[in-house]
Amino acid sequence: MTKPLNIGVIGCGFMGRTHSNAYNRVSNFFTTEYKPVLKAVCARSADSVKAFADQWGYESVETDWRKLIARDDIDAVDICTPNNLHKELAIACAEAGKMILCEKPLAMNVEEGEEMCAAVEKAGVANTVWYNYRRVPAVTLAKQLIDEGKLGRIFHYRANFLQDWTIAEDLPQGGAALWRLDAAAAGSGVTGDLLAHCIDTAIWLNGGVTNVNAMTETFIKQRKHNLTGKVEPVGIDDACAFLCRFDNGSLGLFESTRYARGHKALYTFEINGEHASIKWDLHDLHRLEYFEHRDEGRLRGWRSIHVTDGDHPYMKQWWVPGLQIGYEHTFVHQVADFLEGLASGTPVSPTFREALETQKICDAVLASAKSGQWTDVG
Ligand SMILES: NC(=O)c1ccc[n+]([C@@H]2O[C@H](COP(=O)([O-])OP(=O)(O)OC[C@H]3O[C@@H](n4cnc5c(N)ncnc54)[C@H](O)[C@@H]3O)[C@@H](O)[C@H]2O)c1
Repeated sequence: MTKPLNIGVIGCGFMGRTHSNAYNRVSNFFTTEYKPVLKAVCARSADSVKAFADQWGYESVETDWRKLIARDDIDAVDICTPNNLHKELAIACAEAGKMILCEKPLAMNVEEGEEMCAAVEKAGVANTVWYNYRRVPAVTLAKQLIDEGKLGRIFHYRANFLQDWTIAEDLPQGGAALWRLDAAAAGSGVTGDLLAHCIDTAIWLNGGVTNVNAMTETFIKQRKHNLTGKVEPVGIDDACAFLCRFDNGSLGLFESTRYARGHKALYTFEINGEHASIKWDLHDLHRLEYFEHRDEGRLRGWRSIHVTDGDHPYMKQWWVPGLQIGYEHTFVHQVADFLEGLASGTPVSPTFREALETQKICDAVLASAKSGQWTDVG
């Protein structure tokens, strides 16, 4: 018999929608001991949170997150708010004994992240951070191939995350839709928003990072602030590129920008090993490109694996071989793994402690960009 897991979601924007969809879908496709129940959703506007609850099937609404966290009928809280609220909400949840599913980046900086880790570990509550790209079937397949040693020794890791939506000079910063441009709400720009995803995937696939050498740029130096109405300095990084050394001796090259005209969400990575190479592209997320040097010479070449077969990660839960799933399914997979972890008593990756590693690298990247020096990952 399934056990209910009462979910309270805070924030009903982009991630509030992807997560609500995941809680609704997961039990249709995955057999899990726990079944999510959409108990409550919270946002500050009573009208919009009510409309959201009706659309997604929540039983109740709150307009004050403190009330949601205090409710006895909530088992797990899902934090889908801008980054500057993650710490306060997560610590309140831990103190109330709630499980926590927190959006990325874990925190505004390492100090905040450390406090969050201490709080969940002291409370002994299940916790995870939504680095959902790990759960694209093709990316999970890449992890399997690397762990099986198919690539051999790894020499290079390259990743990009490119967008083009902040090029206009008259785009304001701050407020509901544009908090990502406001350092007070976001912590950083592309480093915490986009590179954090690339870094999480990289350390999952290729291990820890030793040190980094970064450059950042803020192309538009001042923007009108939506909350104050005044033109204010822009505190986020519009673009960031960094070199790094991984603990396994391989070299890393990462780039992210919101000024790459023509690119909306081009997340790509390539890994070159002694025996084989792997390439992946979010715009064609079901394909894993694979080159195996040990193939017979005449047949050697890049193969494009369409990751849709029943023996590919997660795929037997969906349709029939050859049929694709999409972006939203990565969140369904994360919920499925979280529920499975609860049933088996195994923490689901990445936990807060594991996501703190990404935070440490992001902080080192920003520190290196400021100092112009190679910087150790603390
Ligand atoms: N995993 C991913 O791929 C991914 C993608 C996008 C965003 N994110 C992360 O998810 C988080 C939210 O991003 P988003 O794109 O959904 O933002 P969003 O602006 O679309 O939604 C944020 C929501 O938080 C609510 N909110 C703000 N302050 C609040 C408060 N005090 N109390 C209650 N609700 C409050 C807003 O009303 C809004 O509903 C961020 O941390 C972001 O970095 C992750």
